[in-house]
Amino acid sequence: MRLSRYFLPVLKEAPSDAQIVSHQLMLRAGMIRQEAAGIYAWLPLGLKVLKKVEQIVREEMDRAGAIELLMPTIQLADLWRESGRYEAYGDEMLRITDRNKRDLLYGPTAEEVVTDIFRAHVRSYKELPKNLYNIQWKFRDETRPRFGVMRGREFLMKDAYSFDLDAEGARKAYNRMFVAYLNLFSRMGLKAVPMRADTGPIGGDLSHEFIVLADTGESAVFCHKDLVEMAAPGPDVDWFGDLQPLVNQRTALYAATEEMHDAAAFDAIPEGDRLSARGIEVGHIFSFGTKYSEPMKALVTGPDGKDVPVQMGSYGVGVSRLLGAIIEASHDEGGIIWPESVAPFGVGIINMRQGDAACDEACETAYQALKAAGRDPLYDDTDTRGGAKFATMDLIGVPWQLIVGPKGVAEGVVEIKNRKTGERHSAPLADVIAQLTGPQSGKAA
Ligand SMILES: Nc1ncnc2c1ncn2[C@@H]1O[C@H](COP(=O)(O)OP(=O)(O)O)[C@@H](O)[C@H]1O
Ligand SMILES: [Mg+2]
Repeated sequence: MRLSRYFLPVLKEAPSDAQIVSHQLMLRAGMIRQEAAGIYAWLPLGLKVLKKVEQIVREEMDRAGAIELLMPTIQLADLWRESGRYEAYGDEMLRITDRNKRDLLYGPTAEEVVTDIFRAHVRSYKELPKNLYNIQWKFRDETRPRFGVMRGREFLMKDAYSFDLDAEGARKAYNRMFVAYLNLFSRMGLKAVPMRADTGPIGGDLSHEFIVLADTGESAVFCHKDLVEMAAPGPDVDWFGDLQPLVNQRTALYAATEEMHDAAAFDAIPEGDRLSARGIEVGHIFSFGTKYSEPMKALVTGPDGKDVPVQMGSYGVGVSRLLGAIIEASHDEGGIIWPESVAPFGVGIINMRQGDAACDEACETAYQALKAAGRDPLYDDTDTRGGAKFATMDLIGVPWQLIVGPKGVAEGVVEIKNRKTGERHSAPLADVIAQLTGPQSGKAA
C-alpha cells in the first residue's frame, strides 16, 4: 500500500477521555473511531489487525475440531423466553420491536440460537461430539463502556458451543478448547493464564477465564508465577486423544480471579512464587451441562435408546478486546509494537527524500519486491519530512522499517530497523530485500 493513497488518519494527541494506553494508541494510530459510547467504526488499519486476530482464532478453532457457522446478530425474543433468560438478562440486552410488533434483540451471546439449530438437526449420539462456533458482533448495553475496545457495547466475539452425550465427553470438549486457547493467545504474542472462574449454580470446576496480565486490567488476579511463563503446547497435540495431562499441568498451580480467590490456598504458595496482579479477561470457557438443552428440549438418543438432554459448553474469545490487550502488553513511548503475526503491514518503507530520483527508484524496487513476496509493505511515499515519517511508522507499530535516504543510496545502502528492539543497520538494498523476503523473514533480526 502506498501511504499517499491510503486512509490513515493519525492523530498527534489522543483525545483526553482516552484513559489507558491501548485506547490512546488505537485512536492516535487511526485504527478506530468512536461513533457512540462503546460503539466504534473500524478504520482501515484497525480492521486489518482485527482480521488477522480473527483469522488466528479461526485457525486454532478449526484445528481443535470446531466447525464455523454464522448466526445472526438479531435474534428472536421467543427463543430467550424458552430458556428463561429473556427477563433475567436485564438492561444489558438491547431489545428491538419490528414492524409486526415482534420482539427481537441484538444478541449479547448465542446459546439459545445455537441450541435451536442443534435441536432441529441432531437427534442421535452418533453425530456427537460437535462444536459449532461463530465470529460475530455482539451487543451488550454495558453501564460503563470504557477503555475503547476493551469494554465496548458492540464488540466482536468468537463464541463456540460444544455438544456431547455425557459428562465425560463434555470434559474432553472442554479440554480441547482449553488447549486451543493456550495456543491461540500464544500465537498473538500474549501470555494468557487460565484462571479458575465462578461456575455459579452449575457447580464443578469447568470454568476458566484466560487472563492477560496488565496494570490496566479490570480484574484483580492471583496466581503462581510459573503459569505466566509456561509455554503453549503447540499444534501437534492429539486433539481427540487424552488432553487431561496438559490441562492438569496448568490447573495444578494456583490461579484465580478475585471472585474465586482463596487467600489460604494462595498463601500456601512460597512467597517468591506468588503473583498478585491485574488482568484483562480475553477468553472464557464454561461447561454448563444441560442448562439450555433441558428447558429448550435439545435431546439426543443415547446408545440405550433413551433420550437425554445434550451436555453443552460455551467458549468465548473477545476478538476486538484482544487488540487492546495486545497493545497493553506490547508498546513503548513511540507507539504500538505489533507482534509479526498480527501486524497490519509486514514492512514499512520510508522514503527520506521523496522526489529524489535515486531514492524513489530504490523505494520502488523494494516496494515491488516486498509486495511480490507477500510481505504487505506500507510505502510512505508522501512528501512529509523524515522525522514525521519515522514517528508514524513507530506509532502504527510496523515490525520492520526500511529507510531509504540520499546519502545511503549514493553509497549503495539502505537502513533496516527493527521496531521492537530499535536496532538499525545498513546494508545493500538487495541484501535487505533478501532478508525480508527469505524463508526466515520476520523471524530473525
Ligand atoms: N463489553 C465487552 N467488550 C469487549 N469484549 C467483551 C465484552 N464483554 C465480554 N467481552 C469478551 O468476550 C469474552 C466472552 O464473554 P463473557 O465471558 O460472556 O463476558 P463477561 O465475562 O463480561 O460476562 C470475554 O472473555 C471478553 O474477552
Ligand atoms: Mg466472562
